[in-house]
Amino acid sequence: MEKVVIASDHAGHELKEDIKEYLKDLGVEVIDLGVDSEDKSVDYPDYGSPVAERVSKGEIAKGILVCGTGIGMSILANKYDNVRAALVSDVYTARMAKEHNDANILVIGGRIVGKGLAREITKTWLETRFEGGRHQRRLDKIHEVEKKKQ
Ligand code: RB5
Repeated sequence: MEKVVIASDHAGHELKEDIKEYLKDLGVEVIDLGVDSEDKSVDYPDYGSPVAERVSKGEIAKGILVCGTGIGMSILANKYDNVRAALVSDVYTARMAKEHNDANILVIGGRIVGKGLAREITKTWLETRFEGGRHQRRLDKIHEVEKKKQ
């Protein structure tokens, strides 16, 4: 069974819950790392980091993060080695994020994207395959940049 690790802050909680239900309907195993409610304001790095860490270490291949705009979670997730987080708000970009960029974390803005579109984005990203070839060469170049930091 495909496995996805998911988290949000308070601003992404409602959309995160909907995406979670949708993933379950698709037969995907979901590991939810919070937040559990939108009642209290929390800091998105506290919830995004555990997801990015698991993907970075290769423990889980795919993650989904939701905050208000998606910007904070994307900035955060892309600090982690081996993470390619894509902030997506349309179906075309969702397809390209996988086909060309092999994005292993999908980020959506809970205050930007409606539930129906978020479901389409999620399905497209999950079902699209990486094209490899020249796109792999480009990802290798990104990996070189990552290695230079160490
Ligand atoms: C929280 O108000 C908001 O700043 C956060 O959800 C996110 O949009 C940050 O990028």
